[in-house]
Amino acid sequence: MTTTDTGREVVEVVLSGSRRSDAEREALMADPGFGRVHTDHMVAIRWTEDRGWHQATLSAYAPLTLDPSAMVLHYGQAIFEGLKAYRQPDGGVAVFRPLENARRFNRSAHRLAMPELPEELFLAAVEALVGVDAAWVPSAPGQSLYLRPFMIATEAQVGMRPAHEYLFLLIAFPVTPFFPGEVRPVTVWLSAEYVRAAVGGTGEAKCGGNYAGSLLAQRQAAEKGCDQVVWLDAVERRWVEEMGGMNLFFVFSEGGRSRLLTPALTGTLLPGVVRDSLIALAPDLGIEVEQGRISVEQWQRGCADGSLTEVFACGTAAVIAPVGRVKSTTAEWQIGDGAPGKVTMRLRTALLDLQNGRQPDTHGWMHRID
Ligand code: COI
Repeated sequence: MTTTDTGREVVEVVLSGSRRSDAEREALMADPGFGRVHTDHMVAIRWTEDRGWHQATLSAYAPLTLDPSAMVLHYGQAIFEGLKAYRQPDGGVAVFRPLENARRFNRSAHRLAMPELPEELFLAAVEALVGVDAAWVPSAPGQSLYLRPFMIATEAQVGMRPAHEYLFLLIAFPVTPFFPGEVRPVTVWLSAEYVRAAVGGTGEAKCGGNYAGSLLAQRQAAEKGCDQVVWLDAVERRWVEEMGGMNLFFVFSEGGRSRLLTPALTGTLLPGVVRDSLIALAPDLGIEVEQGRISVEQWQRGCADGSLTEVFACGTAAVIAPVGRVKSTTAEWQIGDGAPGKVTMRLRTALLDLQNGRQPDTHGWMHRID
């Protein structure tokens, strides 16, 4: 047993006796998919009302033992994050903006009446796991190591109140992009029947319940021949909010100049880290960005008159995914020529080049692990 001191916080390391061999790991990493192939270890940290955060441990990835009365199983106190570690040209590893995820994790915790995890402890967990399982960070083009921190209420009692005991866990998966293969535009379904979030609800928290509530609409989208559902506002069912679990950007072009519009954070949208990064990155490429609102009618009209040339979705898992076609109960239309747009692909390349260390990290976003 060893102890790793990453900054002020200490994660106790119990190295796994069941590390997979180099050959096994390489075979698994040849085609990892998304979220199917876990690394050898995980971090666990407990919280109780009397002790606060304690017993931070990195040990072998293993199933959990959970009491059937554990409160997460009944009332859904469960939050998570998604962030990625990238292999760098010098062979080292860097994680993209982990502090932003630590901060959003705590905003989600606050909204679900769960304890906040000190940012240094979140970072220490990331550093410990990525450090020990660094061999699982892929170097194949397009691949990365997806980190999934999450927290659940473990107290064993079914009275309805915030739990008094929690477990933070961090696991990791080598991944190919969420939408694998060549960059292929997705077709989206505008959901008139279901909404994702309303003002005052949990829309801006990254909690499991938001994703559970989206599955039926996602299934409906698939039945309509679409890849993803697009959410509209809960009140007027008119203003565009998000696509599945991703933020949306609209590209307007006029006289050779392009402008981005992304729905503003009204309290119902997830404040995406990639969304925030693109808002900062686009001006570097000479592209203006505005946070505002866009209605379904404006979307359709803009595509018809040629002013709205591209639409794309972004998120940690998907990176940037072009949207090529829109369907609803009353209409169907194509965006541009239906192919991935130039601005979309420029932004995608700029972001991936930065994350993979092929371009300088001018915003100081990459957190080196070695
Ligand atoms: C991410 O983009 O990382 C997410 O959390 C979305 C999830 C549905 C895979």
